[in-house]
Amino acid sequence: MKKQTIRTIDFSGKKVLLRVDFNVPINEFGVVANDKRIKEELPTINYMLAKGASIIIISHLGRPEGKVVKKYSLIPCAKRLADLLHHDVKFASDCVGPVANKMVQNLKPGEILMLENLRFQPEEENDDENFAKKLASYADIYVNDAFGVCHRKHASIHAVAKYLPNAIGFLIEKEVKNISQVLNNPDKPFIAILGGAKVSDKLGVISSLIEKCDAILIGGAMAYTFLKAQGYNVGKSKVETDLIETAKDILNKANKKGVKIVLPVDNVYTNNIKTKKIVKTSKTQEIPDKMIGVDIGKKTLKLFKQEIKKAKTILWNGPLGIFEEKMFSKGTYKVAKMVSKNKGFTVVGGGDSASAIINMGFENKISHVSTGGGASLKMFEGKVLPGIDAISNEGEEKKKKTVSKVSKTKETSKETSKEKKTNKTVSKSKK
Ligand code: 3PG
Repeated sequence: MKKQTIRTIDFSGKKVLLRVDFNVPINEFGVVANDKRIKEELPTINYMLAKGASIIIISHLGRPEGKVVKKYSLIPCAKRLADLLHHDVKFASDCVGPVANKMVQNLKPGEILMLENLRFQPEEENDDENFAKKLASYADIYVNDAFGVCHRKHASIHAVAKYLPNAIGFLIEKEVKNISQVLNNPDKPFIAILGGAKVSDKLGVISSLIEKCDAILIGGAMAYTFLKAQGYNVGKSKVETDLIETAKDILNKANKKGVKIVLPVDNVYTNNIKTKKIVKTSKTQEIPDKMIGVDIGKKTLKLFKQEIKKAKTILWNGPLGIFEEKMFSKGTYKVAKMVSKNKGFTVVGGGDSASAIINMGFENKISHVSTGGGASLKMFEGKVLPGIDAISNEGEEKKKKTVSKVSKTKETSKETSKEKKTNKTVSKSKK
């Protein structure tokens, strides 16, 4: 079922509560280190501004567990957004307190206000109705464009949609269109490349993809559980022993369905991931005793290349080795290059595989690099995401529960001098 999008909404003179996923890495200087998620939000924000809206932006950052944790403040994201938009962004030092209340009331058409991290409040992750109502009281319309967190049933993603007319933004629209194309209408051969640490994280995805793919290439630490299931010695590599039988079942099922599973035939290994005193490549699947597998080897890359070259549709999720360590990142980077050269429809799930593509400057050679890690995985599994499900279907406005608009309350007058100091406008850079 298609969801209501912002294209059909009259924004003139309206306040919009826009949920984004600005959960981005912040470096030691307090600066956004990867702004893909912020850049991807610009079309939605610019469109709504041009249609006469004022915008209240809400997001989470990190996992502060319901407490105020300074390093998870959204101030760096507000600054980066202001720079990218060339537009001032006001910033409130709370999200449902007196500061936000007052700043929301004073917000004028064409202005943007960002509220502080939603996860500083425990109510956010509890999908709390009162918290959702409070957020809804700030605006006339709710727009969800936070694809990366749509798999979480949190108040600003799920409960809030009950209280306001709502729609998805352009980013969610794009994510759903591209991921659905791969899953529902792939040109064949369709291959999936799966990596990452754990088979357990990817079980649902593998089961779903076995029904759709012609081949599944497996790397990363999860490959060692499969190699062990085939009877190979993998030394001290990470193995999920409780999943060895499941891995055998997956291999048997794939075999019956004629789906080719390509596992590593050689592995880069080390004695110690930190000291890296010994780093070698095995000649076969076997990894010597006391050694730890850390990347796929050259022979495996050749096998992967053959499959990647002939594929018309590719879905990639998860690094193929310990990608954070330069010495063990070759497999992931080489596969990133191979995927970027493929002329078919290529989709890369968020997280480390997306970072590899972006770091190498290949993003514009991939059909779609998702902004979602967990969210894209859930979609690959064929699951409905609560954040998208909560939005009205196209042309079918759900009846909303009533919520009174935010007004001058006693709370507002409680604003402390400290809070006054933290209200700020983040100016656009002078160009
Ligand atoms: C992500 O980065 O995957 C999303 O922002 C969700 O974050 P979470 O896993 O902390 O809920």
